[in-house]
Order: sequence, then structure tokens, then C-alpha cells
Amino acid sequence: MKVIIYMAISANGMIAKSDDNTSWISKKEWYNYILITRKAGNLIVGRRTYNILTKQPEFSEFKNVKLVVVSKNNKPKIIASNHFIVSKPKEALKLLKNFKEVIVAGGGILNKSFIKEGLVDEIYLDIEPIMLGKGISLFREENFETKLELLNTKKISKNEIQLHYKIKK
Ligand SMILES: NC(=O)c1ccc[n+]([C@@H]2O[C@H](COP(=O)([O-])OP(=O)(O)OC[C@H]3O[C@@H](n4cnc5c(N)ncnc54)[C@H](OP(=O)(O)O)[C@@H]3O)[C@@H](O)[C@H]2O)c1
Repeated sequence: MKVIIYMAISANGMIAKSDDNTSWISKKEWYNYILITRKAGNLIVGRRTYNILTKQPEFSEFKNVKLVVVSKNNKPKIIASNHFIVSKPKEALKLLKNFKEVIVAGGGILNKSFIKEGLVDEIYLDIEPIMLGKGISLFREENFETKLELLNTKKISKNEIQLHYKIKK
């Protein structure tokens, strides 16, 4: 099983404004996110992201995806029969063990956990043409260092670029 982090980021590594606003993420990027998630057939998100994502207009596009929410203390209300709650990243992977690829899609706290536990094989960073002075970073602040190998770069649109890295282990 290959574990992939897939995120849209600002040019300075933010995934949302401080108030959780992500309206700066383009329609094209949403489309790419939906495509990769549908192809994998699954998605792992943190509790805060689950609560936000399930209220987005685009969320109906994820209806056939097996969705796993990681949450320990403030378990959210699950809104569909193919949504599951687990209390640890490794439990999420256990639940999805029959999938070839698993998509981890934020937020910053969950990403940090997966990276720190050495569970990630690849990361896609789709860079939006914006810089945000304040916000939520790709990995919530923690002291770690992870080396990467560049697998591919792709121009998504006139102003958006995708970086695809392998995590060196
Ligand atoms: N740009 C993008 O592509 C993108 C993608 C996704 C999300 N976002 C944005 O990211 C923001 C949310 O990120 P966030 O960092 O605030 O929160 P988050 O990672 O979505 O959720 C954090 C919560 O998830 C649970 N969790 C995470 N790691 C865990 C672990 N190792 N064990 C147990 N539980 C764990 C905890 O829930 P409990 O407190 O319930 O224990 C934790 O409080 C939102 O603004 C969202 O819009 C952006």
C-alpha cells in the first residue's frame, strides 16, 4: 500500500487562512483533488478537516469514497455509512489495508502525525498563486526534518504548479 499526502498550499506553505478560509483554492484544484481521491477510492482526514469538508458544496463528489476520520477527543458526528472514525493514523491505514493507494488530505495536525510516524511514501503539493501572512501550515509546528526526492513537476494551469515528491526513508 502506498500512502500519499495530497494538499493544495499557498506559495509559502499554508493550507488555510487562520479562520479556515480556503476560498483561494481554485476550481481546477478541487477537480484534481476529487479525481485523485476517486481514483484511490479512499480518503483520510483529521477531525477539523472532516467538519469543514463535509459542509463544502464539492463534498457530494466524494460520496463513493471510503472516508476515515482520525479523532480521539472530540469525535465528530459521522454523516454517511462509508465514513469511519479511528483514534490513530495507523488504525486508519489498517482499515484501508486492501487499497493500493491511500490519500491523506490534511489538515496540518494530521499531516504532521503521519509524517512524524514515518507512514508517508509520497506527497503532492499543488501550489496556488498566493502568499498568506497568517494561517495554518502544511504541517502544524513540530520539530522534524524529512528529506524528499523530486519525482515530477507539472503545470496544472497558467498560475498553478504541482510538485510530486517521494519521502526518503
Ligand atoms: N489546502 C488544503 O488542501 C487543505 C486540505 C485539508 C484541510 N485544509 C484546512 O486545514 C485546516 C484544518 O487543519 P488542522 O490542522 O486545524 O486540523 P486537522 O488536522 O484537520 O484535525 C485535527 C484533529 O484531528 C485529530 N487528529 C489529528 N492527528 C491525530 C492523531 N495522531 N491522533 C488522534 N487524533 C488526531 C484530532 O481530533 P480530536 O481533537 O477530535 O482528537 C485533532 O484535533 C482547515 O482550515 C481546513 O480547511 C486544507
